[in-house]
Amino acid sequence: MKTFSVHSCGPIRAEILIPGDKSMSHRSAMFASLAQGCSTITGFLEAEDCLSTISAMRSLGARIERTGTGAFVVEGTSGQLSQPVGDVDCGNSGTTMRLLSGILASQPIRARMIGDASLSKRPMGRVIKPLTEMGACFTSEGGDGKPPLVVEGGKLSPLCYEMPVASAQVKSAILLAGLYAEGETSVIEPAVCRDHTERMLQEFGVQLELGEGDSQGRRRIALKGPQKLKARDFAVPGDISSAAFWLVAASAKQGSDVTMPGVGLNPTRTGIISVLQRMGANITAHPADPKAAEPLGTIRVVGSQLHGTVIEGAEIPNVIDELPILAVAGALAHGTTIIRDAKELRVKETDRIAAVAGNLRAMGANVTETEDGMVIEGGHPLHGAHLECFHDHRIAMAFAIAGLFAEGKTVIEGVECVATSYPTFGATLDSVISH
Ligand code: S3P
Repeated sequence: MKTFSVHSCGPIRAEILIPGDKSMSHRSAMFASLAQGCSTITGFLEAEDCLSTISAMRSLGARIERTGTGAFVVEGTSGQLSQPVGDVDCGNSGTTMRLLSGILASQPIRARMIGDASLSKRPMGRVIKPLTEMGACFTSEGGDGKPPLVVEGGKLSPLCYEMPVASAQVKSAILLAGLYAEGETSVIEPAVCRDHTERMLQEFGVQLELGEGDSQGRRRIALKGPQKLKARDFAVPGDISSAAFWLVAASAKQGSDVTMPGVGLNPTRTGIISVLQRMGANITAHPADPKAAEPLGTIRVVGSQLHGTVIEGAEIPNVIDELPILAVAGALAHGTTIIRDAKELRVKETDRIAAVAGNLRAMGANVTETEDGMVIEGGHPLHGAHLECFHDHRIAMAFAIAGLFAEGKTVIEGVECVATSYPTFGATLDSVISH
């Protein structure tokens, strides 16, 4: 079993190259595989989750050739996938399984999607329900909407669906199915969630109707099917969810100065910057071209003293993957940090509320777990501890960063899961500490 062993360190002064965005890497491989013609992808995140998507799309008939680090040439299928030989293995990746459910719903094939132990416990009912309403046939072999899932696709009817949870994966699955249904499919999201599917489908030539968002933050997205995707070249920017670990580390350590070029600055993902700025962090980030399909730019963060904040409501979907590291920021801040409306954390790769609260407490922080979040009384000195990461990459990385602020040694067990989203995290951590 691999471990991270971390000590407290001095100010962090570095330029850090952030690997490609995970959400966009998945979508680039899927959309290029559905398109007519040959696409090139650069900056692709070669981590286990996104490589699961590449092998899934290969098994469904796309020809995908790796031409260099993070570089792939994809010969699309013009929207006609082929019957896979054997199971489609989604590994640890919820995005692969949920988005693929939407894609497979319209295909006249039978596919069995499987996942690892963690994915096999995650709720797929949220995509099965609307896709079944559209006409696809799903069997949950795990029972109660859990994987393995057998999909028998076919002719779909369009759907108007008001999502009960703010989930970009559910939104994407329905829109992807809607591409191949005759007529208008629309989704209403209860709060704005990451919009990579909308932006990238448009890049691949799809016509979408994007609503403005009402006073309660609800937004409608619609498309008329059937529509075809056209091949294009796509450059994946750096992942702000990976940059988040260094944003917190450098924000909370006085004397730090970290620059990260080429990071995605899509406004549905930059909530981490707004939250940290509200906590007193000194962060600057300006997209080089705000009108780009997927804006990106350089982020600079200079160390300061953080103070507590409240993270809740419509902001939650924007920072959903960053909440573990934001909870660590809360423990390092003066005053109280409250996270609420974040029940979704309980059904991520692990129950992230229980995992974060338990680990922070083991390091001496004062944390109260609530049903949909936690309350952190910041400013209590942290001490080293032996911690589990529950096979969850973001828990492993968040607590490696916490260890940089603790007295004594922090050991995190089972960190091989970091390879699902940020395989070079350990090497960057070593280089940041040794400078
Ligand atoms: C993702 C959406 C989010 C996020 C996940 C990636 C995506 O999940 O937590 O890491 O790429 O669409 P939900 O849609 O379940 O909120």
